Amino acid sequence: MQSLSKSQTNNCHLLVLISGSGTNLQVIIDQCKNGTIPAQVCGVISDEPQAKGLQRAKNARIQTTVVDYHCFDDRQSFDHRLGQEIDCYRPDLVVLAGFMRILDAELVERYYGRMLNIHPSLLPNYQGLNTHARAIAGRATEHGASVHFVTPELDAGPIVIQGRVPVLPSDTPESLAQRVHQEEYRIYPRAITWFAQGRLSIQADRVLLDGRPIDICA
Ligand code: GAR
Repeated sequence: MQSLSKSQTNNCHLLVLISGSGTNLQVIIDQCKNGTIPAQVCGVISDEPQAKGLQRAKNARIQTTVVDYHCFDDRQSFDHRLGQEIDCYRPDLVVLAGFMRILDAELVERYYGRMLNIHPSLLPNYQGLNTHARAIAGRATEHGASVHFVTPELDAGPIVIQGRVPVLPSDTPESLAQRVHQEEYRIYPRAITWFAQGRLSIQADRVLLDGRPIDICA
C-alpha cells in the first residue's frame, strides 16, 4: 500500500493547474481560506496567459506562473518547463482544475498518488472533450463529474469520488454543464480534504479511504 500524503492539517500545499475560468479554483481558494479544506494553495500554474483563473489567484495573493504552450517549439520542451515549474513549488498535491493539456507520462508517474484531476463525466463514460454534448447525444439519463488520481492514460486513473446529476429532456450542453459544475464544487473539495487529512491511499490502483475501499458515489 502506498501512503499518499504527509498526514498533516493545514500545511498541505496545493498547486492548482488551470487553463480557463477557474471556478473550481475559486471554490478551492475560498474553502482553504475558511478552513473547510485543511490545506493552502501555494501556487497556480496556467498554460494560458489569458486564463481568468489567474486573476482569481492574484486577487487571493497567490503566486502564479504562466507556461504558455505557444512559446515552445515542441511538446517536449513545454513538458520539460512545466515539470520544472511544478517542482519549484514543492507541492504536496497537484490539483488539475480545468487544465486542458495532456501531461507528459514521466511527470505523471513522478507525481503518482499526488496529482488529482476533475473530469466532467461519470468515468469511464465520456473520456476526452465535449462530454456534456456527448451525454445528451447519447441519450444518457445520468451524467456528472469524477475526481481521479492522474495516470499516464488519459482520464483513466483510479477514481476517488463521483457526483451525479440527472440529464433532463430540455437540457442543452450549457445547462447540463452548469448542473455538473455544482457537483464539481461539492466533490473536489471533499477529495482534497481527504488527501490533506492523510486518509487516502492507493492499493493495486484502487483508492482506499481510511484503509477501506472507497464508495465513489459518496
Ligand atoms: C470543469 O468542468 C472541469 O471538469 C473541466 O474543465 C472545467 C473547468 O472549469 N475539465 C476537463 O474537461 C478536463 N478534461 P473551471 O475552469 O471553471 O473550474
